[in-house]
Amino acid sequence: MLSTNFSGYKGLPELVGLHTMNEAMSKGLTVSESVNRLKRFHWTAKRLSLIFTTRITAMPVYELKMAFGLHSHYLAEHVESFFNRVREMREPPYGMDKAPHAALDILLDELQNAPDHAFVLGAYEVVIPAFLKGLQKHIEDNNKLFDHPTYRVCRFAAIEVEEIQDYGNAAVKSLITDDLRKEYEPFIATLNSCLQAMGGLDGTGTESNVVPERYFSKTPYVYQGAPQRDERFKDLYNMGVNAEAFLLNRDIEPLPKTIMLYFKRMREIDVPEMMASIISETPDKPWGYYKDMIRQLWDESRHAMMGEVGFTSINVNWENIPFNFTWSYLLNTKMTPLERHSILYFIEQGLMPAKTGKQYEWEVAVQTTNQLTKLIQDYDWADEVLHARIGRDWIVPQLGGQNAALEYGNQAWSKALANSFDDFEANGLTKHENWWPEVYKKACEFWQVEPDPQILAYDTSYRESRPDRIALTE
Ligand SMILES: [Fe+2]
Ligand SMILES: [Fe+2]
Repeated sequence: MLSTNFSGYKGLPELVGLHTMNEAMSKGLTVSESVNRLKRFHWTAKRLSLIFTTRITAMPVYELKMAFGLHSHYLAEHVESFFNRVREMREPPYGMDKAPHAALDILLDELQNAPDHAFVLGAYEVVIPAFLKGLQKHIEDNNKLFDHPTYRVCRFAAIEVEEIQDYGNAAVKSLITDDLRKEYEPFIATLNSCLQAMGGLDGTGTESNVVPERYFSKTPYVYQGAPQRDERFKDLYNMGVNAEAFLLNRDIEPLPKTIMLYFKRMREIDVPEMMASIISETPDKPWGYYKDMIRQLWDESRHAMMGEVGFTSINVNWENIPFNFTWSYLLNTKMTPLERHSILYFIEQGLMPAKTGKQYEWEVAVQTTNQLTKLIQDYDWADEVLHARIGRDWIVPQLGGQNAALEYGNQAWSKALANSFDDFEANGLTKHENWWPEVYKKACEFWQVEPDPQILAYDTSYRESRPDRIALTE
């Protein structure tokens, strides 16, 4: 047979190396089979991405808060690729805004409504593995020559879904005890019966067509907007140390400002907590909106972790610093999603001026001559420019132009903050303790320098000023 030991010119791989001739002759799915699987991947990636996002605010464990940001971002980035590939395959442009199988929505609703530990178990031990298996099987079953664009879409998605899976395995190992596993057996059984009903996540098995009974999703989902933190975080309403006033004071030398830069970065845990609320409570936007917002949310998570890296590098245990969540708390519980987004935009626009914004922070970092601090601020600055653009794309048009958006954001920010400093204190939530001297002394130990008495005495809180209203001292 001609196909036996088939080879290209002078032994060049046949069919550009995608398949042997025999493979190309014998395998492949029809366009409609391929489309059916892609539609399920599309819906899974889309909803799962939003489900990871909505859980960020009320997830107390810092590491998982950050991981959900990454996993949400990975999934969000592949939604359009699946969608576009389906559209390329003679598929009419409707029907992709709903679940391709009723049991898939029950499966995802169950994850959305599950308590934290059940979610970790169900997402990382059932749903993500089923998704990964589906992608891998599609690659395996497909004819890479005939359906090459689908092969690429699935392959790239599989790389990142596999990374989610790897992290998920570690998360389950760390957090799921035998007791929890026992407690959530009926929930896991519900997830598995959803998968059976739909013939596996990719639909390649036999559909049982028994509509599974809901377990956690019998009652409608309610978004939890009050931020939660784990027990390592203390004094969550403490607004006692004004980092901006310190950073912008030209009389203070660069090195101690390192601490305030790291503090500002790690305090950014509150940005994903807040952005998750905007995304969760703003329905019916084009997918590009969610994709961009989730990308920014993940960037802000990275900024927080960059701060964690910084503190660890100077041997300061961040558990001894109060990272207040007052910003995400006030915005999520007192402001509308539109007000929150306008405040975010207003603050990020305020970071653009070279003299007082991100460029200034980077210049301070350069002056410290510490390579790590410089890198942290370099990327923080670059990301912030992108975020200002995301704001211009999505919130400015909605509020009637740049000036109107800034004015709206400015007023909303003042309204959100109002008398919160005094109210938190009056309500016994904090004493706004000055944590600065202890942390500064600890860093000086690492730097092997004597604390400067004047810097040690720094005692300026956020009582009088909004963080963005501090001028650079000349
Ligand atoms: Fe940031
Ligand atoms: Fe940002």
